[in-house]
Amino acid sequence: MELLDLLSRRRMVRAYTDAPVTAAQLARITSAGSRAPSAGAAQGQRFVIVTSPEVISALADAANEEHYTARGYPAWLSSAPAHIAVCVDPTAYAERYRRDDKKTSAVADEATGEWAVPYWWVDAGASLMAILLAAVDEGLASGFLGAHAIPDAKRILSIPDEVEFVGLVTVGHPAPEAPRPPTRRGVGVSDAIVHHDVWTT
Ligand SMILES: Cc1cc2nc3c(=O)[nH]c(=O)nc-3n(C[C@H](O)[C@H](O)[C@H](O)COP(=O)(O)O)c2cc1C
Repeated sequence: MELLDLLSRRRMVRAYTDAPVTAAQLARITSAGSRAPSAGAAQGQRFVIVTSPEVISALADAANEEHYTARGYPAWLSSAPAHIAVCVDPTAYAERYRRDDKKTSAVADEATGEWAVPYWWVDAGASLMAILLAAVDEGLASGFLGAHAIPDAKRILSIPDEVEFVGLVTVGHPAPEAPRPPTRRGVGVSDAIVHHDVWTT
């Protein structure tokens, strides 16, 4: 599929049919996530592919799915046949930028150690987008639930302490009753996003 076509078809889908996704599809989708750029080629992105019904169910519980279904929303996490946890390891960046070819890069404040831009979040976002688009390219649909909404995810997925959990991508075949996304409800694409030559207000 052409990139612009993929971009316009992608939307967050929050309800799925019980049609399965294959291991090969999930491998191609996560492979797309691995191809995203990373600062200094640190490759700190990490993914956990989840297809175990027990683990999916535990994640849905941790996200308090019942609270939403009780209010009439369709089941989201538990309806998806697969989840991909998007994670990133900040220690990979610290390690990479200590190497000889990078140690003079002023990525972090010398006194505080604070990064001008914590690039691991940028790279996680790049991988997230590649994953969402690759799912569409497979003829599937995907959604993203941020880490804040699943406080227990790291424990459920045994993600190491030093690794950041960014959120959960749900992958599957869209349910016909899947709610329309905000963009289709008339929110549209903000005209505040792009500026020319200089920032205009
Ligand atoms: C970093 C990030 C966090 C998000 N967190 C949530 C979330 O916790 N729950 C949710 O329903 N959607 C979440 N979304 C999806 C956005 O609400 C969605 O992308 C936005 O409304 C635009 O809709 P579209 O992606 O279908 O075009 C998140 C998206 C991003 C990029």
